Amino acid sequence: MRRKLIAGNWKMNGLKADSLALAQAVFEKSANQTNKSFDVLICPPMNVLGMVAALPHNDVLIGSQDVAETVKPNGAFTGDVSAAMVKDLGASCAIVGHSERRQYHHETDAVVCQKAENAIAAGLIAVICVGETLAEREAGQALDVVQHQIAESVPANATAQNTVIAYEPVWAIGTGKVPTTDDVAQIHASIRTKLAEKLGADVAENMRILYGGSVKPENAKELLSVANVDGALIGGASLKADSFWAIAEAVM
Ligand code: PGA
Repeated sequence: MRRKLIAGNWKMNGLKADSLALAQAVFEKSANQTNKSFDVLICPPMNVLGMVAALPHNDVLIGSQDVAETVKPNGAFTGDVSAAMVKDLGASCAIVGHSERRQYHHETDAVVCQKAENAIAAGLIAVICVGETLAEREAGQALDVVQHQIAESVPANATAQNTVIAYEPVWAIGTGKVPTTDDVAQIHASIRTKLAEKLGADVAENMRILYGGSVKPENAKELLSVANVDGALIGGASLKADSFWAIAEAVM
């Protein structure tokens, strides 16, 4: 039985005061939730990651939005933050290969795979993002693109414990558009099939596959009840504790 994961990606949002208040509000909602049947992850930007992780956060997981590509835990890599450093700040997860990184920083599948390996080697859970662009979907290539990304971005040593997949169609991110539940079901099933080919049936069966892209309180229940959807990666709606938690409550 895969436990659902509700993950917030704050992106490049939040100065200290706002971020700490948001984190605190999420921690309180989590602490007040009895019999929580899902895991919660928040991924603040690097400027506040350490401060957020230093707050008492009970079982809420804290993650970064990226890690450095180099395998070295430190060294002459100006501007980079290694997976070991992220772990040292108190985080337990790292998003890698978000489409905004792939698009604006030209991260290839090979780079994403290396980052995922670095995260895993540092003892973090890698949340590996995949997803097709609008042009790819319109050309009927969505399945192929996503399967290729899974084949190339997921490290060979990925397990259900150290890796989570997030399917985020690029055209659904921040746009208010969401795929049909049939489309989500089809892609998620194909991701699990590809994971089974790559990592074996056991690992694939237990690995969580999140959906991301315009998840809101209004559509959360429908999306979270699609077969093979094991949680959500939430951008915009994670910036308010109330809307983030309303999505989490849709799990129950
Ligand atoms: P969104 O972003 O929820 O604002 O669409 C999702 C994401 O990019 O992770």
